Order: sequence, then structure tokens, then C-alpha cells
Amino acid sequence: MSIEPDSSRDLDLNGQLDVLEARQRSEAPRPRAIFERETRRVRIPPGGELPESAALLERFYGGDFTVREKKPMVVDTRRSVGPYMVSIDARPLTLLDACSQIATQTHGFYHPGIVKALYTGRFEHCLWSNPDTTVHHVPELAAYEEALERLAPPALEHVSFVCAGGAEANEKALRIARLHAPPPVNGPRRRVLAFRDGFHGRTLATLAATWNPAKRAPFEFAGYEAVFSSVDLAEVERLLDERGHEIYAIIVEPMQAEGGDVYLRREFLLGLCKLARARKLPLVVDEVQTGFATGGPFFWWTRLGLGGDEATTPDILTCAKKACLGVVLSRWPDPESNQVHVASALRGLIQLETSRDQAFLEQLLRPRAEGLAAAFPGLVGDVRLAGTALAFDLPDSAAQTAFIDQRYQRGLMTYPAGDRTIRFRFSAGWDERVVDDLFKRIHESLARLSDKTAKDWVAEGQSADSDPAVIVRPIEERDWPKIMAIENASYEPARRDSEAYLRRAAATGLGLCAVDTGSGEILGFCFGGPLEDFRGVSGASQDERLGLGDTFYSADVTVAEAARSRGVGRLLKRAQVQWAKVHGFSYISGRNRVGTTDAMAALNRSYGAFPVVRLTHQYEGNALADYYRIPLVPPPAPRAPADEGILDLASGLQQPFGCAPAFMGGHELVGPTASKINLSNYATIDTVHYSEHLRLLAPRGTGHMYFTSSRDETIDKALRCLRLGRPQGQIAVGLEGGYLGHVTAAARSLSDPAGFGDGLALFDFPRLPHPDADLPGFTAGLKHLVEKTGADKILGLFVEVVGERSGRVLAGATASALAAACREHDIPLVLVEAASGCYRSGAGPWGVDALPADVVPDMVLWYPGGQIGHIFVGDRYYIKKPLVLISTWDGDELSAIRAHEHLRAARRLDLGDSIAALDALLHNDVLPACPGARLGGAGLYRTISFPTVALAEAVDQACLHRGLYLGNGLPDTLVFAPPLTITPATITGDLRRRVLAAIDEARSPA
Ligand SMILES: Cc1ncc(COP(=O)(O)O)c(C=O)c1O
Repeated sequence: MSIEPDSSRDLDLNGQLDVLEARQRSEAPRPRAIFERETRRVRIPPGGELPESAALLERFYGGDFTVREKKPMVVDTRRSVGPYMVSIDARPLTLLDACSQIATQTHGFYHPGIVKALYTGRFEHCLWSNPDTTVHHVPELAAYEEALERLAPPALEHVSFVCAGGAEANEKALRIARLHAPPPVNGPRRRVLAFRDGFHGRTLATLAATWNPAKRAPFEFAGYEAVFSSVDLAEVERLLDERGHEIYAIIVEPMQAEGGDVYLRREFLLGLCKLARARKLPLVVDEVQTGFATGGPFFWWTRLGLGGDEATTPDILTCAKKACLGVVLSRWPDPESNQVHVASALRGLIQLETSRDQAFLEQLLRPRAEGLAAAFPGLVGDVRLAGTALAFDLPDSAAQTAFIDQRYQRGLMTYPAGDRTIRFRFSAGWDERVVDDLFKRIHESLARLSDKTAKDWVAEGQSADSDPAVIVRPIEERDWPKIMAIENASYEPARRDSEAYLRRAAATGLGLCAVDTGSGEILGFCFGGPLEDFRGVSGASQDERLGLGDTFYSADVTVAEAARSRGVGRLLKRAQVQWAKVHGFSYISGRNRVGTTDAMAALNRSYGAFPVVRLTHQYEGNALADYYRIPLVPPPAPRAPADEGILDLASGLQQPFGCAPAFMGGHELVGPTASKINLSNYATIDTVHYSEHLRLLAPRGTGHMYFTSSRDETIDKALRCLRLGRPQGQIAVGLEGGYLGHVTAAARSLSDPAGFGDGLALFDFPRLPHPDADLPGFTAGLKHLVEKTGADKILGLFVEVVGERSGRVLAGATASALAAACREHDIPLVLVEAASGCYRSGAGPWGVDALPADVVPDMVLWYPGGQIGHIFVGDRYYIKKPLVLISTWDGDELSAIRAHEHLRAARRLDLGDSIAALDALLHNDVLPACPGARLGGAGLYRTISFPTVALAEAVDQACLHRGLYLGNGLPDTLVFAPPLTITPATITGDLRRRVLAAIDEARSPA
């Protein structure tokens, strides 16, 4: 069946979307643009004014569409690098990010290893689209798993990944733990034992285990509250004696980060391990914030000398943050496979591979940290430092607030923790000069805690970045004596270039000099030319691009000693980059001697240089040099996949435009990929653009939106949002056959468990008959439930417009009856659009567009694939209060860009013919070939449910043998979810041939 479109809305909506898109395209960062990054200084604009950021944020918040909770700077992920977080403004705010994006980055912004990976093809299969990780073998995930296995304590043999981050990792850990908890005594085990000051996430099960009562209490469910203990073994033991029968797991952070960087003692953790083992209660160690070498060694646990043997290893250990998604290391396997965002996994893997680059920090930080306590006795207390994590305490929360309140004015970004702690997180992007600059700022902040003028703006870093009296021009004959004099004065003999060498470069490539227009004096120069002209030079000689004619080799950039600090090097580099670009080069390469060319290396980094290889035995000795590359073009487009004759009808929700949609080539993706940013705190130009589009598209009944980082997180956040409006709410109601996710306890408890591992649900949420199958049963069931529990106890009814696993469709009079029942009992109606959104239903952007006008949802949830999800909500349940419904990521910029482009492209498609062709194939050919089967779904998401599970499996296998991938629904159900671009010819030809042959094979006796 296909859903009838609502054309009256379409007309003016499409016009508005056209106008919006034209505007946004004109503002969008271009993939071939040169972005100059900030590598030198904090910048504070006069009056702290950020007009471009402010205007973009107004667009983001427009019409109250999203909560006013972002920091005032819109971050430019293209111009930020290392510790420098740069706003989008023409006169930017540039801060030292002293919290490395709250512990998520090993190298700060613009991770050079990620940039390198982008240009060497490592992201080829996962940048333009996200592979469906539940369908395909994904080599990036396999590599990540292997790398983690090598690092993990030996007893933790199993690795699984989840989409969103720390909360989901802990949810999955608790799911696995509960499967391996001791058998129930007097009823199911529903509680975890957790610790005061602990933080484990904001999904429902992890929030229950989070101490902070202000965050936790409004969202607790009766009977599932955690049992909290102090960090005290005797108390743990007593609680286990008294309430052990209710508990299914113990969860602990070895360093309680959000609680105030509280370092738990080794003896305590070891004792806890022993206690848990003795009671056979799974112990989950939450290293979401401390893993990935935050504390020096890769895990905090191993930093404490634990984990070397079975007895000192927890049962499960979780990481997220720097892992870029959720990681669960466990003694036991994960009973389910999970959908994740592969580009995030690869970013996490690269952060793992480069995590040791942070090792130098502790030594650099130690004396400076100790200096703080000495300089501010009585004010700064309990300075603690491990690896990249530094914290100190102030006397009280007023002092803490006074410190935090002046962070923008002081040019640094950090966050409070606990009730009087200031904490910092560093990354390999820092160096001694920048660390010193930060400590100067910390000293000033501390000195001004009670200074009323501390929040006054004082402009900083506003001088021009180069002396206006300096110009760059081509070298003339008369310049040579001076040039050689500067060359000889600047370098030791082994590094000097000869005049003949430089003259050759100038003749076949580029030779420029910087001149003081007043005195006429030559201040510096640069040379270079096609890489092929330098094939004798070490580094260039091994460059894999040699012979391709696309690389400019930077042979020499030199500034006279007396002319330093006038921005001469920057002017020369800028001219060189522009020259190379104008002359059609795609890359610039060169080498920087390690240790003596920091300024030049920083200059190269400001143009996006990444290291290609470290060269040894340089300059006629044992010197080291970094051979670098600066890309002037976007990363190479993915190669067309080898035609292995695969017809993939399983991955359409993750890849609605196949695996390499060409339109992604028009979008600048390097910044958002290499600088994965915390969208809970910051907006970017791409997320603002995306929100504007979504605001125009907000489904019926809604006008506000929250972002999430996964499908499951939409469920948890939706429930939390509803709970604030319905404080008596204790249950959510699902439907038989429903699927809302299988990672978080809330999503698991709403999904039909058929086909999943044991013990899927945690919460005792009821499921009603699907009205599409049994409307009277549904209506009576709801009535009965309301009578039994009271409507105010019900947070909402969760209904998929098109059942992703069941194919059950909400439509027509049935939908009206369901909506009427919700209205009658005043129960929020939450519609889920995973299988019908993004125009897939054929009705318009949303499946709900086709429903009768009296079906008005309170919320619409949409998971478009990747690491992002959406909660659209109407006025009644919208929570305006900032920072209530957030988590670390709140989506992923790259995923947002893709989902935005999908919506833009899908709007232009006419799916009518392919929907009709698929419909005809299923009704006229497939159904007659499968007696007793039931067709379901709508538009380009269709299902077939077979009379037996065995037949469904046989057809699935027979399809696979023919290179036809169908999706898996309920155990008896197969799914046809093609890319939106599938043609009627493919459906009536190739698909028809394969599927009919497969059914024929499956049904014929062996
Ligand atoms: C120790 C710990 N666990 C879990 C979380 C939740 O992680 P996320 O926000 O990625 O869900 C955090 C986040 O700060 C954390 O610090």
C-alpha cells in the first residue's frame, strides 16, 4: 500500500524550502576553500561581541524550535585546531579549550591523524554514508575491536559497540550484567548498587545510578531506584547483606569525574572487586571519561595496577567520550548486534592509535599545577593530576562559580565538577607555550575571584596578524645577494640551500620575497615548485604523490632574524598556498626539522598540514624532520564499489541514497569529521542550517525539537521530557511487534522481545495489541490499563507509523481511533518515524502527513541513521529549561550534515513509480508465491511476514545466495528497505527475478 500525500501543505512548504536552501548553500563552507586556522593566540573581540554567532544562534532558536542552551560562540570546526576553539565570527572569540571538549579529544580540534586518514582513504566507506552495521561486516569496526582487545585486561574478551556514547555503553553493560546476575530471590532483580558522587549518564537506567539528586530524582521509576553507598567497603557489604537480593550489578567510576575528580583508592576498588566476585554480582567499571589514556595509561584501572589478572579485573568495563561512541568490554558476549556510526568508530580508533601522544603532558603540567597551590595557599586545595586530567578545589561553590563565570573573559573554557572543583582536560594538541599561556590565565582568574570587574570585557589578540608595511612580491635579480645572506644567517651549513638550488626553484616554480615598503629591505622569502622538481630531496623522493603532478613542494620559507614577529612568515605562507592553489596544485608538501621549526610547523598546521612521515638522518646528520602535507582539495571521493552484483534492500534506512551519494562531494566534511564537537554545548553552521530545515519540516502537532545521538536515546529523552510534564508517570506503553531500539533499558522495555536475547526488558512496561491487527483488543487493553494504573501514571503510547520489524501500519480510521483513545484518556501519543520518515512513506516528509487530520501526535521521534536522532515535540510537553535534556554529544555534526542532505535530495525525488512497482511486485508476484504470508509496510519500506520462522529464514538465505540482502524484522518477517533511488526497472527486473527464484528455492523440498 502507499499512503496518500497531503498536497496542500507541500506547495508552500516546498517554496519555503527552496528559499532556505538557496540561502544556506550560499553560506555553506566550500570543500575547496582555504581555511586559515588559529595556532597562536587567544582572541577576545571588543565587548565580547559575536555578531555572526549571535545571528546564527537566533536562527537556531527561532520560534522556540530548540532550547536556548548553547554556549554563545558558534564554533567553526574548520578554523579550530588543537587547543584553539574558534568562533565563526569575522572577529572571532578564540578560546583555549582547557577541557578538551569535556574529555572527548586526544588531540584537540582538527586531529592530524584523522585528517591524514581522510586523505589516505581510510574513511572511504563511511564518510559519505553510514554502512548498516547490523547487516554488513564492517572492517573499521573489526579493526577497532582488535585494537581494544589488545589493550583490554585479558579477562575482558568481548567487545561491543553502541551508538550514542557513555550512557548507552553503561546501559548495554547493565543489560549484559543483568543476564549474568545471580538467580532471582523473591522477585526480579531491578536495582544496581552505585556510589555517592557517581555519574553514569542520562538515559533512564544510568540516570537511576547517578548520584546527583537534582539530576536523578525527577526521573526515577519506583522499584528501580539504585542503592547508593559511600565509598566505603563496610557500607557496601552492609548494603549487599540487606538488599543484595534486589541488586543485579555494581557500577563504579574509578575516578568520579563529574562528582569532582574524586580519585577512588586502589584498595577500595580491589576490595569492591573481591566483594562483587564473592557475591557473584557483576561489577561494571565506568571508564567513559577516564579511558583512552586520560589518566596516562590507557585505562585508569590499569593505572592503579589492577586488571593484570582475573581476580583484579571487573566483569565489564565501559568507555565513550574519546572512543567517539560507546564501547563495552566484557567477560560475556553481547546478545545483540548494534547499529553504530562507523565514521565515529573510526575516529575513536584513530584516537586510540594516537592516545600515547598525550603522554608528555603529565610532566609538563606537574610543576605548573603544584605552582598553583603554592601561589594561592588557602584558596587552591587538593591539586590532583593524572595524565591529561587536572583538578583543584576552591573553598566553596561561590568561589567555583566566580571562577567559571569569568572563563570567557579570561579566554579559556573549562567546567565545574562536584560542588567546588575546577577541572581541566588536556590533549596532545597542547605544547609548552600554550600550557604556560593557560596557567597565566588560571592565575589571573584565581586572583580575580572577588573582583567585580572580572567579567568586564577587555579585547585581546585584535592586532592585525601581519605588519601592514610588509608586502610580498616576486624575487628580482637584484634581491639575490640579500636572500643568500638571510639564508646563510638563518641555517646551519647542512640545512642551507644553495643559490643554484633556489634559483632553479624560482625559475620553474615560485620565488617570492617579503619586503618592508618603507625601507625597501628584504625580510624573508619562500621558494617551491612541482614536487617532481625536487625528487632528489629526502622526503619528496619517497612521496607517494611523486609523478602525479598534483603537489607543490615548499622548498624554503625563511624569515630574517630581525624581522621575526611581524607576521612575515604568515604572509609568505599565505602567498605560497594561494599561488599553489591558483596554479592547480592539490597538495603542498615539505619538511620541518623537528625541534627547531616550531613556528613554521604551527604555520603549516594553520593551513591544515598533517604529518605524512617522520624522516630520520636528515640534514647530513641524525636530525629528524616531519614530512607534512597540506591539502588544498577535499579528500578523494569514494571509488565506485566493485559491482559484486549485490542488491541491498537491507540498508536503506542507514543509506537512503546508497553507499556514495555524489551530493556529499559538495559539502565540506573535513572540519566536522576531524573536529567531532560536543553539540550539547555548541552549535555549528551546519547544525544551525539543519535545524532551520527541520523547523520548516516539523511534523504536525510539533514545533520544537531535541537532538539525540542515537535511536535509543530518542526514547529515553522522550520519556524524560514527558516525565517532567507528567510527574506521576511510571510506565510507557508499547505495541505488540513494536521496535524502538534494543540498547537502553527504556527502549528494550518498549520493544517486542521476539527475536532478541533473553531478558530484553528491564522496566515492566505493558504492550498492547497492535490496532492494525486487533483494534478492539487495543482499545479494550488501553481502557483496562487506564483503569488499573490511572492515566496519569502513563507517560505515553509509543507507536510506529510503519512498524520497522512488524510492518504493521498506522493508517486511516484505525489511526483516528487510536488517537481518539489517547485523547479520551489524556495519554500522550508518541509517533515513531524511523521507517516512514525522510519521504520514504511516499506521503511527504513524514508518514504522519498521510494520517487523518484528527491524528495529532504530542511527539514524533525520528532516527535517520548514523549518530543522530530527533524528538519533535508540541507545546504541551516542551521543556524549555536549558541543559535538562542533554548528553555529551547530542548528535554528531557529520551525521547531521548527511541527514540534512538526505532530506534535501529526497524532497526532489518522485517516489511514486518505484512505490507502485514495489507494491505490484509484492502483491502480484511475491504474495501468490507465498501462501499464508502477510504483506506490511508502506511506501518504500515493505515487509513480508511468513507463516513460519523457518520459511522466513530459508527465503532470507536463498536471497543472500543470489546477492539480494533483505532486512530482518520480527523472526518471521523480512524487510524490503531499498535506497530511495531504486528505479522501477530494477524492481520489475533484477529484484523480481532474484526474489521469486529465492522463494521458489526456499519453498521447494530439499
Ligand atoms: C563517568 C561517566 N559515565 C557516563 C557518562 C555519560 O556519557 P554520555 O554523555 O556520552 O552519554 C559520562 C559523561 O560525562 C561520564 O563522565
